[in-house]
Amino acid sequence: MAAFSIADGRRRLASLLATDPDLTDVLTRYDRWAPDLWDGLATVYDASEVLPAIVDVLAAVHLKRPAPLRQRDRERILRPDWFQAADAVGYVAYTDLFAGDLQGIRSHIDYLSDLGITYLHLMPLLTPRPGANDGGYAVMDYRSVRSDLGSMDDLADVAGALHSAGISLTLDLVLNHVAREHEWAAKARTGDPHYRDYFHIYPDRTMPDAFEKDLPEVFPAFAPGNFTWDDDVDGWVWTTFNEWQWDLNWANPDVLIEFADIIGFLANRGADCIRLDAIAFTWKRLGTNSQNQPEVHALTQALRAAARIMCPALIFKAEAIVGPQDVVAYLGQGAHAGKVSELAYHNSLMVQIWSALAARDGRLLATALSRFNPIPVTSAWATYLRCHDDIGWAIDDADAAAVGWDGFGHRSFLADFYAGEFDGSFASGMHFQSNPATGDRRTSGTAASLAGIESAVASGHAATLETALDRLTCAYAMVFGFGGLPLLYMGDELGMLNDHSYLDDPAKAGDNRWMHRPAMDWTLAERHASSGRIADRTFTAIKRLIRARQELPALHASVATEAFVTDDPAVLVFQRRHAAGSLVEVYNLSETTRVLWPGAISPIEPGPVREHISGETITIAGPVILPPYAAWWLTAPE
Ligand code: GLC
Repeated sequence: MAAFSIADGRRRLASLLATDPDLTDVLTRYDRWAPDLWDGLATVYDASEVLPAIVDVLAAVHLKRPAPLRQRDRERILRPDWFQAADAVGYVAYTDLFAGDLQGIRSHIDYLSDLGITYLHLMPLLTPRPGANDGGYAVMDYRSVRSDLGSMDDLADVAGALHSAGISLTLDLVLNHVAREHEWAAKARTGDPHYRDYFHIYPDRTMPDAFEKDLPEVFPAFAPGNFTWDDDVDGWVWTTFNEWQWDLNWANPDVLIEFADIIGFLANRGADCIRLDAIAFTWKRLGTNSQNQPEVHALTQALRAAARIMCPALIFKAEAIVGPQDVVAYLGQGAHAGKVSELAYHNSLMVQIWSALAARDGRLLATALSRFNPIPVTSAWATYLRCHDDIGWAIDDADAAAVGWDGFGHRSFLADFYAGEFDGSFASGMHFQSNPATGDRRTSGTAASLAGIESAVASGHAATLETALDRLTCAYAMVFGFGGLPLLYMGDELGMLNDHSYLDDPAKAGDNRWMHRPAMDWTLAERHASSGRIADRTFTAIKRLIRARQELPALHASVATEAFVTDDPAVLVFQRRHAAGSLVEVYNLSETTRVLWPGAISPIEPGPVREHISGETITIAGPVILPPYAAWWLTAPE
C-alpha cells in the first residue's frame, strides 16, 4: 500500500467533515498548515504512519467545536497579534486562592477589567493526584476539573464570561509527565505493554546511571535523582520532578496523538492559550542534560500546526526556564521560525531585573539582553517579575565576566541577598532547594517582600517604605515597558507579602514556594484611593503602568527592546524603535538621586518630552535630575 500522504490526509479530512458547514475553512487551514504538521512529524516519526490518526483528531475536535468558538477562530485569524498588542496585559492566579472556585471567578471579572487585564492564566485546575501534587502539576485526568473548583461545564462557562469581557483564558498543559495515578501510568503498572511504552522504564540501573551523569536535579532537596524504582512496573521510572510525576516517552507517537486530542479538548472548553509546562524536558538524549533537544521543537511544531487547523484561535506559550542560548528556539528559530510557540517566558529578564536592583547596576542586564537572538516578529515574550515558582539565579558566567564579575560569586550574592542574609539587603525571601553539591540555591518570596516592602514595614520607617514602594514600581515598569505580554502574579498588584500559612498544610509544608502563593485578600482590594495604604499605592501604580501601555503602540511586541546603561551604571535605558513612534525608557536602579547631562540619554533631544507613566511633560535642558527609582517612558510630544 502506498504511504499515506498530505493529500490523502486532505481527502480523509474532507470525507470526515463532509456535512460540516465550515468544511471549506478547515480545508483551507489544512492546506496552509499541513506542510508544517508533516515536517514536524517527519523529523521524529514516520509521518505517513502518524498522519491518519492526527487527521482523525483534527476532524473529531472540529466537529465538537462550539459555534461561538468557531466564530472566535475567525476573529483571531483576523487579529493574530492580539497577544502582542500594547494593551495586552496578563494576570496569573490559582482559581481557589483568587476566587474559591470557577464560578467565583465570574464575580471577580470586573476587578480584572478595572485593572486593564486582557489575559488570565488560571493555574493548574485539572484533576491532580490526591495528596501532594506539585501545585496541580501532577495531573491524574486531563479531561476533568479538580472537583472542589467545579466541572468542565463551569470551565466552559467561565471561559465564555471572560471572552465577553475581552479576556483570553490560558490553561496549563503538563506534557512532560503525568501523575503516577493517571490512567496511562495505572495501566502501565498492571503490565499493559501499550501503556508501558508511554513512559521511560528501565529494568536496572544501567541506563539511569548512564543518563544521570549529565542530568541536573530539579528538586534536589525533596526529590533527588531523576529515576524512581516502582515495584508495580518492576523497573526504574524516569521522574525528573517528584517521584509521583512520571515522565512521558514522546518517542512514542501515541503520546503525541493523545496530547493533540487533549489540546483540542481544552480549546473546545474555551482555552485561548495553552501553557506548555516544563516543555524543555520532553525529549531525552543520552550524553546530554536531556533538555532543549531539537525534537522538542519539531514536536511543538506538529502540535501547533494541528491546533491551527482544528482550533486556530488557540496559541501556545512555552514554559522553558532555560538559558538565553536555548530559550529563543521556543519562539522559533531557523526552520521553526514562526511555527512553534507564540509566547515564551522571559526568565532572563526577570532574573536580570532582580539582579540589577540588588547591584544598583544595569550593566549585566544590558549585556545579557544584548546577546539574545532576534525572535520572530509574530511572537512575544511573556515578561514577569514574579510567578508561582522560585527564582533560579540563571546568571551566565560569560555575561558576568563581560562586566568584570564572577558568575558564581554573583549568583551566590543574589541568593543571599534575596534571602535577606546579605548585609544591608532590603529583601525578605527564603532559600529554595539549596544544593550543597553545586552551591546552587534558588529563592522564594513575593514581589513586594523581595522588593523590600516587608522589611520596610517591619522597620517602621516611613521613608524606607516609600523607597521600597518606588523600587517595586520601577521593577514593574521594566516588566510592562519591555514589550511583550506582561504577566502580573495575583496579589502583586496589592503588594501582598510572604504568607507562611502553608506550613500548616502537610501537602504543602515541604515546599516553600507556597509562601509566595497567598490567598487573595479581597479586603485589600477594596479601593480607598487616597488612603496611602500599601495595597492602594501599589494598585494605583500598576494601573497607571497599564493605562500608559494602552496609549503606546511602540510597546507592540513585534519590535525588540535595546537595553543599555548611561555613563552611570545605575541608570538603565530601554529604547524601542517603532514605526508608530519610538519610545525611550529611563530607569534609576538605585535609591539615590542621579544627575544626567544632556546627551546621556542620547535618543532624547533637549526640549519638552512626554512622560507617559505620570502623564506629565518634562523639559530636558541642562542636567536632568532623576529621582530614586525613577521610571520614565518618554516620547517626543506630537
Ligand atoms: C513547571 C511549573 C512548576 C512545576 C514544574 C513541574 O516548571 O511551573 O511549578 O513544579 O513545571 O511540572
